[in-house]
Amino acid sequence: MDVATGTAWGTPGQAAYDFRSDYVTTPNAAMLQSIINTSLLDDVMMEDPTTNSFQVFMAGITGHEDSLLVLSGTMGNQVALRSALCSPPYSILCDIRSHIIRMEAGGAATLCGAFMEGIAPSNGHHLTLDDVKKHATVREDVYDCPTRVISLENTLSGTIMPLEDIRAISNWAHSSDPPIHMHLDGARLWEAVAAGAGSLKDYASCFDSLSLCFTKGLGAPIGSIVIGSSSFIKRARWMRKLLGGGLRQAGVIAAPARIAVEQIFLSGRLREGQQTAKRISEMWAKMGGKLQHPTETNMIWLDLEAAGVDKDHFADMAENVGIKTMRGHLQGRLVVHYQICPDALDSLASLFAEIHKALYTKTVHGNL
Ligand SMILES: Cc1ncc(COP(=O)(O)O)c(C=O)c1O
Repeated sequence: MDVATGTAWGTPGQAAYDFRSDYVTTPNAAMLQSIINTSLLDDVMMEDPTTNSFQVFMAGITGHEDSLLVLSGTMGNQVALRSALCSPPYSILCDIRSHIIRMEAGGAATLCGAFMEGIAPSNGHHLTLDDVKKHATVREDVYDCPTRVISLENTLSGTIMPLEDIRAISNWAHSSDPPIHMHLDGARLWEAVAAGAGSLKDYASCFDSLSLCFTKGLGAPIGSIVIGSSSFIKRARWMRKLLGGGLRQAGVIAAPARIAVEQIFLSGRLREGQQTAKRISEMWAKMGGKLQHPTETNMIWLDLEAAGVDKDHFADMAENVGIKTMRGHLQGRLVVHYQICPDALDSLASLFAEIHKALYTKTVHGNL
C-alpha cells in the first residue's frame, strides 16, 4: 500500500480519475502474483527463464528473431538508435513532433552524436514517402551527413500512421544504397493494432528495430522491449549494458510485463478505452468544442484556445471536479486507460458543461 495515496496493488486508486497519461495506471493483483511466482536468476548472464521466455514470446508475436527487455521506452529507443548507428557522420530522420527528438533529453545527440533531421509532415498528420524523399540525405558528398536511420512513431499524439505509408517508406529505405535502418518508436503501437489499422506483425515487418512499452496503456509497472534480428539484439544487449541497463533478477520486470501484454492487449481491452475516448470527444463536440487532433485511439486533444479556456487554468478546473489532467505543454490532452472509472467520466462531463457555460456567457455578453 502506498501510504501517501492509499493505492494498493489491484485497486486503481487515483489512477481511476487520472487522465494525464496511459502510464499512470496502478499495477494489478495478477501482476503482483506473477512477481511472487517469477524465477529469480541473473539476466546479464541470460539465465533467467521468465525473462528469456518472455523475450522469445515478444519476438514471436511480432515476427522477429529476438528481443531484449529494457527499463523504459526512452532506454528502448536510445539502445536501438545507438545499436543501429556505427560509423559517423550520420543523421536520423524523423517526424519533428516525435518523442526521440522532443522528449528524450537530446539522447540521440549525446549518446550517438547523431544529427537529428526533424520533418513536419506535409499533410499535417503523418510522414509520407514524399516527405522522406524530400528530406533524406542519400548522397555521400564530403559535405553530407547521410540519413542512416529513419525513425517513425506510431501512434503519435494518439494518431495512427497508416500501414501503407510505412510500407512505402520502408521499401524505399531498404532499397537505398546503403540500406537505411528503419526504427519504430512503438510505445503505443498496441493502440494502432487495437484500432484495427494492421496487425503487430504487419507493422513490425516494416522495421529493423522496434521499441514497445508495457507501461503505456497495458498497466505494467516497469519495462519496454527492443525487437529485431538476432545480430541486432546481440548488439543492443551490449549497448544496454553500456547504458547501465544490464539487469540482474529481471524476472520481477518480465513477469508482470507478460501479464500486461496477455491480459490487456491480447484480450482486446484497449478497444474499450478507445470507445471511451470517442465518447469523450463526442461529448466535447456536442458542446461546440473543437479538437487539436482527431481522436483515433485513446487520446483526446481539446482545443482549449478555441474554447476560450486559459490553458494554465484548465488543470485547476479539472482538479476542482476531482480529476487530474496534464499541466504544461500537454494541457488539453486527455488520455484514457483501462482503469478510468465511470465516475471520472461524469466529472469530465460536468467540467465540459462548466467550460461551455462560461464560453456561452462570454459570447452572449460579448454580443450584447
Ligand atoms: C511515444 C513515446 N515514446 C517513448 C516514450 C518514453 O517512455 P518512458 O517514459 O518509458 O521512457 C514515451 C513516453 O511517454 C512516448 O510517449
